Amino acid sequence: MAERSFKYVIVGGGVSAGYAAREFAKQGVKPGELAIISKEAVAPYERPALSKAYLFPEGFARLPGFHVCVGSGGERLLPEWYKEQGIELILSTEIVKADLAGKALVSAAGETFKYQVLLIATGSTVIKLTDFKVQGADAKNIFYLRDIVDADSLLEAIKAKKNGKCVIVGGGYIGLELGAALKINDLDVTMVYPEPWCMPRLFTADIAAFYEGYYSNKGIQIVKGTVAVGFTAHDNGEVKEVHLKDGRVLEADIVVVGVGGRPLTALFKGQVEEEKGGIKTDAFFKTSVPDVYAVGDVATFPLKLFNEIRRVEHVDHARKSAEQAVKAIKAAEEGKTVEEYDYLPYFYSRSFDLSWQFYGDNVGDTVLFGDNSPTSAKPKFGTYWIKEGKVVGAFLEGGSPEENKAIAKIAKLQPQVETVEQLKAKGLDFAMKI
Ligand code: FDA
Ligand code: NAD
Repeated sequence: MAERSFKYVIVGGGVSAGYAAREFAKQGVKPGELAIISKEAVAPYERPALSKAYLFPEGFARLPGFHVCVGSGGERLLPEWYKEQGIELILSTEIVKADLAGKALVSAAGETFKYQVLLIATGSTVIKLTDFKVQGADAKNIFYLRDIVDADSLLEAIKAKKNGKCVIVGGGYIGLELGAALKINDLDVTMVYPEPWCMPRLFTADIAAFYEGYYSNKGIQIVKGTVAVGFTAHDNGEVKEVHLKDGRVLEADIVVVGVGGRPLTALFKGQVEEEKGGIKTDAFFKTSVPDVYAVGDVATFPLKLFNEIRRVEHVDHARKSAEQAVKAIKAAEEGKTVEEYDYLPYFYSRSFDLSWQFYGDNVGDTVLFGDNSPTSAKPKFGTYWIKEGKVVGAFLEGGSPEENKAIAKIAKLQPQVETVEQLKAKGLDFAMKI
């Protein structure tokens, strides 16, 4: 079988891969030195678009409109760009075997790719209900969303089931963004999740109450504290009903499941150190194996600000970790080093007319400020997290660019708080005046 050899190989062709390619080009790579090997059929794109503008009934986003790096205001890297740079974009190619000691990868078609330096950027896959053997979970029109193929299948179903019923399973990022997207497409939406409120990993009960109220006002039904335990199907195999643990039965033409992601590390199991579900790296995204780096969703890295090691499944870190790794790779070649990664966690989401940002850590006591009434004409509210007398995290819905910058700054600086009452009284002003 064929064998090809590159100085640098990036396995995975998502957000990190695209930002890494741009950084390689910035730092200087010779034609033929760098290859990106991706299971996907298209050049790296801004994955967050898939659960937002890609699903709009009008004014929707389509490729090539959202190739990286437009999501961070950068240049859009079209497939031609990779050609011009002499970067090999090896698409529709799944790597099924990795031999880190032998510095070789093997594709499903049997081709071998040798490398000197490897960047692992395989991202995450979705957790499926079939993984838990939920009865009937393999019925047609039960969807997950990770890549553009998934998004296209969902769009087809949306067209085929006009004004139909949709059940969203999961109250996390996918659940909230897809609940809104399907409602905007005029489906009758019911959301189901096991927790007492949505996005429990990040939201406080007060934050969640706003979004749940807002979604209810949009006509979305919310069923909390239970899970889907089975599905029935029509004779043609399409989903018909969702059976819940509490005995309720919901009719459904479309089901969208968002019950979490799982980092794709299986290829490297036993060959590289892992921690907290990801591949363990240092502050330069170097793994325990020489010349192997891991970035984006798969990396468990030192989060200097919190003096802890963490894995982050968000796009801002995918971009920045990729840039950091490439800078470190290029510096090492010249016997130099770069500064340690000093990341401030940043998550965001958008749905309907809403838009929130969060910076820092959501631990400790919380202080809610602003107007969080779901019926407000222009809701704007936020929350600070306080640990050991310092603000360590900040959330803001409806902020302006300056206000969002201010909450980012506060999360980074971690100022001391006099009293919680004072912080509550000052609200957003506290961040604006830092
Ligand atoms: P990413 O998943 O982008 O790329 C991995 C690539 O590797 C894929 O192309 C995959 O096919 C490929 N691959 C995997 N295994 C392979 C193999 N064996 N062989 C070849 N190729 C392989 N975050 C955020 O902060 N704000 C947001 O709004 C959103 N929105 C959002 C929407 C949706 C629908 C999803 C699924 C995710 C988000 N995210 C997000 C999360 C964000 O997109 C995510 O953290 C980054 O895409 C991670 O970048 P990576 O490069 O690590 O993986
Ligand atoms: P998530 O972890 O955000 O949410 C999972 C949710 O699934 C939980 O909150 C819970 O409500 C629910 N759940 C768990 N088990 C369940 C069960 N058996 N039945 C019903 N509900 C159950 O994961 P996600 O929303 O699936 O997102 C997947 C990945 O995509 C994550 O990495 C996420 O960071 C990423 N993503 C991020 C954004 C964003 O940052 N704006 C948007 C979309 C996706």
